[in-house]
Amino acid sequence: LQADPCNIVIFGASGDLTRRKLLPALARMHHWNLLAPNSRIIGVMRDPSWHAERWQSYVHASLEEFHPDSINDDASWQSISTMLELTIGDLTDASMYQRLRENMKSSNGRTNALFYLAIPPQWYESAVSALHQSGLLDESDGFRRIVIEKPFGSDLESACALNLTFREYVKESQVYRIDHYLGKEGVQNLMVFRFANTVFEPLWNRNYIDHVQISVSETIGVEYRADYYEKAGALVDMIQSHLIQVMTLVAMEAPVSLDGNAIRDEKVKVLKSVRAIPSDQVDRFAVRAQYAGGTIDGKRVPAYRDEPDVDPASTAETFAALKLYIDNWRWQDVPFLLRTGKRLPERVSEIAIRFKQPPKNLFAHIKEHLPQNELVFRLHPEEGMIFLLNAKQPGLNDQLHKLALDAPYAMTGSDSPEAYETLLHDALLGETALFSRADEVEESWRIVAPVMEAWKQPGSIRFYEAGSSDIPDIDTIMEGCIGCWRDLS
Ligand code: BG6
Repeated sequence: LQADPCNIVIFGASGDLTRRKLLPALARMHHWNLLAPNSRIIGVMRDPSWHAERWQSYVHASLEEFHPDSINDDASWQSISTMLELTIGDLTDASMYQRLRENMKSSNGRTNALFYLAIPPQWYESAVSALHQSGLLDESDGFRRIVIEKPFGSDLESACALNLTFREYVKESQVYRIDHYLGKEGVQNLMVFRFANTVFEPLWNRNYIDHVQISVSETIGVEYRADYYEKAGALVDMIQSHLIQVMTLVAMEAPVSLDGNAIRDEKVKVLKSVRAIPSDQVDRFAVRAQYAGGTIDGKRVPAYRDEPDVDPASTAETFAALKLYIDNWRWQDVPFLLRTGKRLPERVSEIAIRFKQPPKNLFAHIKEHLPQNELVFRLHPEEGMIFLLNAKQPGLNDQLHKLALDAPYAMTGSDSPEAYETLLHDALLGETALFSRADEVEESWRIVAPVMEAWKQPGSIRFYEAGSSDIPDIDTIMEGCIGCWRDLS
């Protein structure tokens, strides 16, 4: 579906997010004819040494590096390049907004605007209040939407304050909070899988499900982001946002429709039902660790504490695992285990639903413990679904074996869009379902708050070797679950 013509204004246009994600996503949308031809991509940046040609070659270089197919013929590049505009100036400077307004001048019915704030979060407030003051948020001739990236605050209090600020200048329906996990095909498939099929619904509850494991394991380290990561750590960087969002999609009730607010209402109900972790028992519900030096893919990598700009005595966790309970009729006492870490042996993201065991094991003489049935939604490396069942091994024997019904997503034969492409497209269409609403963000901070508080106390952090999945104490939070953590290697 082609979006209406729009001025796509990117604040922070010379930054990494723009180069790696936004420009390639827009080029892909252009390639698929999802962007109206007379849309504009207006880069906003502070550095006066930028000019139109530099912006053009910057965009070209970004596409060459991250999405070469989009410019493999001159005509494609020509038509993208005619969409590019540049506005230079500081985002606190009123005259910059005058120049921006000039660049946004409507032509051929292009009256809409999407402001993408690809800038550090501490600048969100200044940007939105200046946009408001300059009249650029006035919706009398078209929509005005603001897209922001996490982190939305740094704790519950600051998240509430940020939401309040936005409320002063724009309606909630104009704010698009990106959680790129919601843009992943595999995550969206969860909803389709749950609500477009009938067979699993009767099993989707505490009667049949023993527990759920949501895992994101990365091989990369902190890279160049120590400044942010030192304050965030894995709990805030990944669990408070991505993993909790994914959990809500596994756990929510069927929404009344696919309307953004109908879906988000159901997700908020899940979040509100999450049992508060008692502040004096955090160790029973959460585990953290930090990577020491080690070897990944045959290469030596430094310890987190030896990474550039990291405090040599840092206690920031690069691995975090959390056990949550959702106190409602469907999920009472079913553990939801969320874990994520950097510098682990493999890059894997998945959601595993582990079912209970049969009430009586008729095959105890062959296998003392029957492996549990598992339904796994793989997000990475290959999107798809795997259903693990027990079956008879063929032949004149009485052996059992694990049967994996493996359905790679690629089987459907189409090319999966990148998360940012899906999300930008939805933002242009005004589809809000894949964006976090203010109350969702606040509830997620509430859930992690006791753990954040406990981990602030001086205490010793445990270490794991980079490239190893051997995390100290990780099994303590498996208490009450049958089986063990899934092996991600
Ligand atoms: C980001 C985190 O939101 O997600 C990063 O800030 C992390 O630390 C990244 O590496 C993981 O995303 P993906 O899509 O590569 O799993």
